[in-house]
Amino acid sequence: MVLRYCRDMRTHVVDHPLVAHKLTTLRDKRTDSPTFRRLADELVTLLAYEATRDVRTEQVDIATPVTETTGVRLSSPKPLVVPILRAGLGMLEGMVRLLPTAEVGFLGMIRDEETLQASTYATRMPDDLSGRQVYVLDPMLATGGTLVAAIKELISRGADDVTALCLLAAPEGVEVMERELAGTPVTVVTASVDERLNDLGYIVPGLGDAGDRMYGTAG
Ligand code: URA
Repeated sequence: MVLRYCRDMRTHVVDHPLVAHKLTTLRDKRTDSPTFRRLADELVTLLAYEATRDVRTEQVDIATPVTETTGVRLSSPKPLVVPILRAGLGMLEGMVRLLPTAEVGFLGMIRDEETLQASTYATRMPDDLSGRQVYVLDPMLATGGTLVAAIKELISRGADDVTALCLLAAPEGVEVMERELAGTPVTVVTASVDERLNDLGYIVPGLGDAGDRMYGTAG
């Protein structure tokens, strides 16, 4: 795992052969939607393992069949998982597999393909996120506009620790996040920081449009 610190934002690039293997198949344009969805799901679970390294726990006393001992359980309030619709939905199952007791909120955001600006069309989550750890799911950290807007919304509701899980990131998007979210407790966990963004705002080499690769072009 490569750990990079810039003020308060941290970027973790998960360096693992299984992550690299699954990501390569996701990038391949011959990979069909069912395979893409399955691999994205598996990749998210691997990223989630790293992303939840600092999930808050509390000590509990238990009895095994042999003796009494202490262990840990997730503390309350439970973490909140927020997929950003549409493509973040394809990451939800892979995340809650590791955090089955987490609550789930939803943010519907769309990027204008000409201006590359993000706007919100649906919000479904608690008004008060005070003291909550939040995991945001967005497969592609491209310009950073969508994630910055989403994370500002979560912080304005009181979230005090936000981790964004992204399959891929562009260096430009990471820089925007570091600038716009300086001084906030944010971590990005991703399988790769790619080379660059192209003129259309796509990550290069990337994997194309993540929503289209998952669900086709109907939406
Ligand atoms: N969104 C995508 O789905 N793909 C990109 O490469 C950039 C943004």
